[in-house]
Amino acid sequence: MLKNDQLDQWDRDNFFHPSTHLAQHARGESPSRVIKTASGVHIEDRNGVRLLDAFAGLYCVNVGYGRQEIAEAIADQARELAYYHSYVGHGTEASITLSKMILDRAPSNMSKVYFGLGGSDANETNVKLIWYYNNILGRPEKKKIISRWRGYHGSGLVTGSLTGLELFHKKFDLPLNNVIHTEAPYFFRRDNLDQTEEQFVAHCVSALEEQIAREGADTIAAFIGEPILGTGGIVPPPAGYWVAIQAVLKKHDILLVADEVVTGFGRLGTMFGSDHYGIEADIITIAKGLTSAYAPLSGSIISDKVWKVLEQGTDENGPIGHGWTYSAHPIGAAAGVANLKLIDQLDLVRNAGDVGAYLNTSMQDALGDHPHVGDIRGEGMLCAVEFVKDKDSRTFFDAADKIGPQISATLLAQDKVIARAMPQGDILGFAPPFCLTREQVDTVVAATAKAVKTVLG
Ligand SMILES: Cc1ncc(COP(=O)(O)O)c(C=O)c1O
Repeated sequence: MLKNDQLDQWDRDNFFHPSTHLAQHARGESPSRVIKTASGVHIEDRNGVRLLDAFAGLYCVNVGYGRQEIAEAIADQARELAYYHSYVGHGTEASITLSKMILDRAPSNMSKVYFGLGGSDANETNVKLIWYYNNILGRPEKKKIISRWRGYHGSGLVTGSLTGLELFHKKFDLPLNNVIHTEAPYFFRRDNLDQTEEQFVAHCVSALEEQIAREGADTIAAFIGEPILGTGGIVPPPAGYWVAIQAVLKKHDILLVADEVVTGFGRLGTMFGSDHYGIEADIITIAKGLTSAYAPLSGSIISDKVWKVLEQGTDENGPIGHGWTYSAHPIGAAAGVANLKLIDQLDLVRNAGDVGAYLNTSMQDALGDHPHVGDIRGEGMLCAVEFVKDKDSRTFFDAADKIGPQISATLLAQDKVIARAMPQGDILGFAPPFCLTREQVDTVVAATAKAVKTVLG
């Protein structure tokens, strides 16, 4: 085994970390942590320090760490057949079985699953398919995609454009032309504090209507949204938002992509976030919870309506010119099959709903009255605490004060609990594995209250 200091040096000399301050890391000014093993909701680093991971990696290790059933399924698949491609009609038992299992769980208007590797490439696939769809329908002008400010849909070229967070655009020449952004359904941050939730929904709807009118409905192909905003701040939509938005989209023949990379397979206490909010999508994006991150795998679930046009397209133009070498990789598919079986066997969707509700109410009880806690919100196994300088006037802290990152660092240092300082705003996010217990909720909440007290008094 390499000595820690040597590994640390190799890390700083050789490894380009994503979403990292590159210069500080290379200079050794920011922390690095080498994770060695994990079990349940805990991860352990090379120094034997054990941390309670209340963000499930990047809200992806939904069944918890160290599940031998999934490890065995991966090993068995690797021994029997580590790889074969899925082009021109090839498949494996694992990939075919998994597509059936996904459709058995998906809303009834869904028809087929295309497999990729991660959420970003799945959304790239979706945009390409949407453009293809409108070309086949003879509507070459109908190509723009509407996304929301604070939406997160990946960090590729088109998906980084769809993402509505400044950090992902700045200096990258994004967003690309065909992507436009609309109002985030973020009630707590509404401009007009006098608005009720109902009025705010009406405002979001009229902002969308105006944008569609300005651009021309015949130029707009699709709207993409996460059922509940994730990386943009863990923000459940105000009541009635999805019903009202869908009515506008239907009226203008605009497809809806539900990006369920975070919410798919149980995080809100329902199999899909679409079930929870009554979303009838034309395409659903899945990744993370599909394999609980035991192997990289994503998917685009395609509705009957879109599928029929794709079929027509290949009848007219030949095979679809889209595919990755690793589409439907057998090891990812085997992990997915074992993961979905485990979720059913352990009734983890229900646990996510029940224990998630307990997490949200406990957080409210512990911190709701704190003078610098402006909002506590969540759904299922998602919870966020947003900090403010002044509660009555809803004044935010200066970003340079880094209150969110300070609280998350304090929580880690004091009680070895991982929560995520969300990238835009002073927001502490929680998205634990679904196997979290009520006792572990108590630990997380008590530690959070202590960290908030340490930083903000
Ligand atoms: C809603 C959503 N969509 C897409 C992505 C991108 O997925 P990936 O990081 O696997 O490319 C993420 C990642 O966090 C996400 O939260």
